[in-house]
Amino acid sequence: MVYRLLKLGHPRRVAHFLKNLAPGVFLQELCAKPGAIGAVCPSSPYLARRMAGQVPEGDGLVVELGGGTGAVTRALLERGVPPDRLVVIELSGGFVQRLRDRFPDIRVIHGSAADLSLLLPQGEKIRAIVSSLPLCSLPAPISRAILDQWRMLLNDDGVAVQFTYNLRRPGWRDFLRAEEIASTIVWANLPPANISTFSFKTHKLGPPAP
Ligand SMILES: C[S@@+](CC[C@H](N)C(=O)[O-])C[C@H]1O[C@@H](n2cnc3c(N)ncnc32)[C@H](O)[C@@H]1O
Repeated sequence: MVYRLLKLGHPRRVAHFLKNLAPGVFLQELCAKPGAIGAVCPSSPYLARRMAGQVPEGDGLVVELGGGTGAVTRALLERGVPPDRLVVIELSGGFVQRLRDRFPDIRVIHGSAADLSLLLPQGEKIRAIVSSLPLCSLPAPISRAILDQWRMLLNDDGVAVQFTYNLRRPGWRDFLRAEEIASTIVWANLPPANISTFSFKTHKLGPPAP
């Protein structure tokens, strides 16, 4: 009866369907690598939509970091980012497979955001970097390397969008050297999250952090 309702037809297909539900995959990855996931559940649709809403109009690539189960990926596509302008970087092989199955028209790159400039096509303008990376729980040298990549890759028009569960000022902000041009708290997420949008325009020639 349930099988017929879900139009899945066969118990094995139902088992596959349940195994691939976003919370199940997320929990599996969380247990395996808690520091690299840094969240108790996938981003809510509200958080995902507000992140996507920070992407400015224009051309250039939109680069999503830490695509996970694809909540933000979907919101970016729904916002109108063309599939051939969206690139997702994801470290976990399990999530990469899921993202490729779910979004066959976009580029999903299996690699670390700390190597971003090596992973992206050379010479392409970047409109926005949209990050769900757990910068607070990653080892400090990795977080720093990731932020260095943003500074190096974003030109005058590009922005970086990052959410954090630390509603005050997370430590990685000290290394960012960028202007926060927008900030908003999304309460409809577990836990509530603060989305910040950064521009590197005025900080291009600033001194490096000590
Ligand atoms: C908070 S979770 C993703 C949340 C995602 N928006 C969702 O709804 O599933 C963080 C993601 O960052 C990925 N990640 C962690 N370190 C990374 C790195 N150095 N490079 C790329 N992805 C990384 C994790 O594998 C995980 O998918």
